[in-house]
Amino acid sequence: MQEALEQLKSSAVCLIEKASGIDEIENLRVKYLGKKGELTTVLKELGKMPADVRPVMGQLANTIKNQLTELMDGKKSEIETKKLEDEIINQSLDITLPGKAPSPGRIHPITQILGEIRDIFTGLGFEVVDGPEVETEYNNFEALNIPADHPSREMWDSFYFRKGLLLRSHTSPVQVRVMKDRKPPIKIIVPGKTYRRDTVDATHHWMFHQVEGLLVDEKVTFADLKGVLLKFARQMFGETRKISFKPSYFPFTEPSAEMSIDCFVCNGEGCRVCKQSGWIEILGSGMVHPNVLRSAGYDPEKYTGFAFGMGPDRIAMLKYGINDIRLFSDNDLRFLEQF
Ligand code: PHE
Repeated sequence: MQEALEQLKSSAVCLIEKASGIDEIENLRVKYLGKKGELTTVLKELGKMPADVRPVMGQLANTIKNQLTELMDGKKSEIETKKLEDEIINQSLDITLPGKAPSPGRIHPITQILGEIRDIFTGLGFEVVDGPEVETEYNNFEALNIPADHPSREMWDSFYFRKGLLLRSHTSPVQVRVMKDRKPPIKIIVPGKTYRRDTVDATHHWMFHQVEGLLVDEKVTFADLKGVLLKFARQMFGETRKISFKPSYFPFTEPSAEMSIDCFVCNGEGCRVCKQSGWIEILGSGMVHPNVLRSAGYDPEKYTGFAFGMGPDRIAMLKYGINDIRLFSDNDLRFLEQF
């Protein structure tokens, strides 16, 4: 057998040396090393050999296999280099042509804004939490103090699956999930996609983004809410920003407030972006409603908290001067390449 192997090797080596094309090399690879190749055929005989020579022969066969592979690879790249050299010499390949520049791609404007928001809040000690986009009706509504017959449900009308499941119409249900899972102190933000049965126009879409915030602990007050959100507004929109709160209504917060910042385009003078008012509404917020704390199993006499929710799509539109929310999901490179 040893002889058969040696012979096989020398004939293979000879043919490899002579080969002048890549196809030829590949054919030799099949002829010798392929499934039905000559080396494989010899190896099948191995089983019939006496046990004491088997390992020696096996090893020899393996060495030959490796040597042949190496030779073939070497010859192949030799042929390729030669081919390239010939092309250059014959000038059939113009090496002075500029190459194809790889396009590096960009981060979507919404993702950029989400990143900025995330960095600010993680800097303030908040943790980023995820929640499912398919949510229970209970978490999306009831647990947030919105009973089935409550008229405010219309504000958050959603797409429904089979009974009891829907596409979440805000990120607030994640408040409930996290509170049920953990004990205070809780200090989280929840970025994610949300869905509503809104008719699509320049400022509405059936899918948009929200970032929810929730802080629950003992002795949390409205002053904490203001402090955190002022810090956020200044880091996000400029260190001189002023904030203003006006009373609002959300079933899951009491009291509730809409927060505005003085316009970062005109510094409050009045311009197109702030619709001449000098102020831009940025988010909804409030102190977590006792009923919400109760439905998560917390004692509202012991724990209090604040929550807020903002729309990164709107923030991106304001910040970059984008006038149509549909551009974010149109996947049009002429738009996306601007960021
Ligand atoms: N979930 C509210 C919305 O979608 C926003 C919000 C969150 C308001 C938390 C107050 C507190 O409109």
